[in-house]
Amino acid sequence: MRSPETTPWHSASWQSKPVQQQPAYSDVKALERAVAHLSRLPPIVVSWEVEALRERLAAAQRGQAFLLQGGDCAETFADCESDTIAKKLKILLQMSLVLLHGLKKPIIRVGRMAGQYAKPRSADMETRNGLTLPSYRGDLVNRPEFTAEARTADPELLLRGYERAALTLNFVRALVDGGFADLHHPEYWDLGFVKHAQLKEAYQRIVSSIGDALDFFEGISGRGVHEATIVDFYASHEGLHLLYEQAQTRFITRQNRWYNLSTHLPWIGMRTAQLDGAHIEYFRGISNPIAVKVGSAMDAAWLQGLVATLNPQNQPGRLTLIHRFGARDVETSLPRAIEAVRQTGQTVLWVCDPMHGNTETTSGGFKTRRFENILKELDVAFRIHAEMGSYLGGVHIELTGDDVTECTGGARGLTDADLQRAYRSSVDPRLNHEQALELAMLIAERSQSRRHPHAV
Ligand code: PEP
Ligand code: CO
Repeated sequence: MRSPETTPWHSASWQSKPVQQQPAYSDVKALERAVAHLSRLPPIVVSWEVEALRERLAAAQRGQAFLLQGGDCAETFADCESDTIAKKLKILLQMSLVLLHGLKKPIIRVGRMAGQYAKPRSADMETRNGLTLPSYRGDLVNRPEFTAEARTADPELLLRGYERAALTLNFVRALVDGGFADLHHPEYWDLGFVKHAQLKEAYQRIVSSIGDALDFFEGISGRGVHEATIVDFYASHEGLHLLYEQAQTRFITRQNRWYNLSTHLPWIGMRTAQLDGAHIEYFRGISNPIAVKVGSAMDAAWLQGLVATLNPQNQPGRLTLIHRFGARDVETSLPRAIEAVRQTGQTVLWVCDPMHGNTETTSGGFKTRRFENILKELDVAFRIHAEMGSYLGGVHIELTGDDVTECTGGARGLTDADLQRAYRSSVDPRLNHEQALELAMLIAERSQSRRHPHAV
């Protein structure tokens, strides 16, 4: 038998493998039409941006940069509005500013946005009061309302999703290019609803310290630091719906390679990372930097198989492993994972997702995450990587720029009872603006104290 790396690949070769988490469409002709249409539409990103991101991720892998990847668990079509998008961009920029100041390294900003519309589900069907309907799989597939019509997988939504991804990224690019992301003007990123005085004050101190540093540098060099102060911003989503991903996969003659041009950094979720499965087959053939979510159920052989299949040439920046063990398991699972990858002799970028291993349901029936568990998993992850001579080069966070109450804890001490006030996610609970900013502050502070353990 030929090993998977040497069997011929093409953008539809995944179709001969067992596939998980794909919707069942009743109108096959309509599906074919939608996919054919999607294949003719222009790409959302271009290959040289994708290559630039891979090079930046390679720097993170060497310990010279840090990845901040964040956004909604699932974007919705309804949230494709200027205010929601600008607020999400703003909190990511604010967090990156705080991390830049604390970690003293370039921050690579990647949104879970402009295409994060498809969700894996634990069950294909959902039953309520005796009625059984297909599960909601994200706006790319169907609608969350519990009616037969809303839950029917509709191929047209693939086109609507593509359009909204393009609209979102177009707006983000315009904001970034237009100066919204210029470090000289952090006042554009005002703190919105952040009311917590200490948090606000700490953030203002960081902003003015960066302002002073820029003034100082520009003063002594006699020129602007324009290049360094306009930030880049990249998009990512879970590459789950393989017909959608395939339709946006293009052969770029100039590079002589295939790229998924629906996003810069697609990732493989925990539930679709089977070594012999369709997702691994699809991902091995595209040239984007890619990521895989890693949970406790993945043993050494599985991890080593992923590394061998997805990055056979050991190309720097190609493979990011996003571990999501949970505060309870990280202590035992992480050292094993680091050791397993080390035995392959290959290098990866390690990133911690402290969200998905820490989801719980309250007695009131809300899916939530506790800030203290999120922080604990991060703390343990930073410590273990350092102890093992490895480098934790990024964080992956579910957040929103809005004032929601979906995760408990944080400086304002949200409790289970607060969750009903503004719980808006139809999938996983997100940190709100204030909690996300606080998390960035805590990561930055702790990294400073690790670098200067005796400073007071
Ligand atoms: C997610 O990132 O929303 C997700 C489903 O994560 P995981 O695959 O890690 O469970
Ligand atoms: Co999620």
